[in-house]
Amino acid sequence: MSQPERPRDTVTVTNNADGKSKELPIYRGVHGPPVVDIRSLHKDVGLFAYDPGFKSTASCSSEITFIDGAEGTLLYRGYPIEELTEKSCYLEVCYLLLNGELPSATEFDEFRHMITMHTMVNEGLKDFMRGFRYDAHPMAILVGVVGALGSFFHDSLDVHDPRQQEISAHRMIAKLPTIAATAYRYSKGEPSVYPRNKFCYAENFLHMMFAYPTYKYEVDPDHARILDKLLILHADHEQNASTSTVRLAGSSLANPFAAVSAGIGALWGPAHGGANEAVINMLERIGDPKEIHKYVERAKDKNDPFRLMGFGHRVYRNYDPRAKIIRAEAHNLLAKHGDLGPLFETALELENLAMSDDYFLERKLYPNVDFYSGLIYRALGIPKSMFTVMFAMARTIGWIAQWKEMINDPERVIGRPRQLYVGPAQRTFSPRTERGHIPGKTGCAGKKHRCGHGHKWPDDKKSKKNKKGQKGNDCEDC
Ligand code: ACO
Repeated sequence: MSQPERPRDTVTVTNNADGKSKELPIYRGVHGPPVVDIRSLHKDVGLFAYDPGFKSTASCSSEITFIDGAEGTLLYRGYPIEELTEKSCYLEVCYLLLNGELPSATEFDEFRHMITMHTMVNEGLKDFMRGFRYDAHPMAILVGVVGALGSFFHDSLDVHDPRQQEISAHRMIAKLPTIAATAYRYSKGEPSVYPRNKFCYAENFLHMMFAYPTYKYEVDPDHARILDKLLILHADHEQNASTSTVRLAGSSLANPFAAVSAGIGALWGPAHGGANEAVINMLERIGDPKEIHKYVERAKDKNDPFRLMGFGHRVYRNYDPRAKIIRAEAHNLLAKHGDLGPLFETALELENLAMSDDYFLERKLYPNVDFYSGLIYRALGIPKSMFTVMFAMARTIGWIAQWKEMINDPERVIGRPRQLYVGPAQRTFSPRTERGHIPGKTGCAGKKHRCGHGHKWPDDKKSKKNKKGQKGNDCEDC
């Protein structure tokens, strides 16, 4: 990978406590603010940089994706997202993200053939899925099953071999829809549906989600087209929480299946990819549009943990360009179906109210990609528990492209952040019997003691049964 241009710009850092000083180089990328190279800061000045949440820290150099948060611009390998969603298709975008260039017609046919040939999953993987509880969340299944792929493909685990990197990438792009749909069918107690080579990527997924052995299922071409767009919109997004997790996990030279599984875990949270599910939960909770005002007020209240789900973004200080495209698609669907349900109306009103409120305007909090994506997934018949899985399926190409870039980067080292330690200074150990009584902790004497989970124990614990129906030392609530 080419290194960023290194002109003579510098920043000088001086530690005023001891006068130690260091001139640090500044690098300029193609777009975005320049960065200062602080790698020698500790060695030369004796300081670490403190930046929780990496608000001002570039963790790598990358050629893949660029966001201009102020302008609301998103580029994949230099191509604007609007053009790609309009003129390309998801598999072509996968090729672009992975290889850096758009494919020729022959290259695209070969790539599509390769992905199509890898869509089946080993039957043993289905036995693995049967180990999950019948009502497991599909994201829980996805985290586990993608991690387990490393136990099925011993022939592509050498992270330094370019051919094995490529095979792992193809396997993940191809198998994610099959795994995602199978996880859903399993969570419903329904038979899984095999992939079909005649379908394109999005059609194949919809078929595996909704076909039954008992009747013919026709994929709605409009639904496949919209899904393909949504996949493009979610394909990559710079160094977000899940992508950074993939890079960090992969920096230890863990295999790419393990690294992507770690990324799926990071995506699950409601502050990241879990927001699409959280948005629908919020709209359902709001219920009556007359209640919107109350929820907007709650979101503004600093003493209330409630936030408007689907609003705000670490990088965008403008309308998320992906949200703009999805919003337009929602209106297209509305024009076709005449009604997208009361939740869509509530969402539109909520956006209007928030976008005329100083709190949101001053903080530049706009709807993000997740505000409307759940509403579209609903219109396609995709259940709420699958929304974040859809995101993971689309983002797999971004994760694997970023993993590949990281593993081949000559500047790669294991990711290992430093910290500002604020815990106790060195202490002397004292035997348990000599330590004071701490009320409310396990093992304390007295009537109001609690179990290790904080539940209150019964006074006569030995005579009572716990939730598992067992007598003994267990607490009633555990
Ligand atoms: N509702 C109400 N207030 C908000 C919201 C929100 N959704 N988002 C940010 N704010 C406020 C913060 O309270 C803070 O206010 P302050 O300056 O008075 O303290 C200010 O806006 C800045 O917010 P930060 O938390 O500093 O922004 P950060 O970059 O750390 O967080 C995040 C970004 C996590 C996306 C946040 O906006 C959020 O929680 N949004 C809701 C969840 C969501 O939609 N996540 C999906 C993101 S997109 C994606 O991952 C695909």
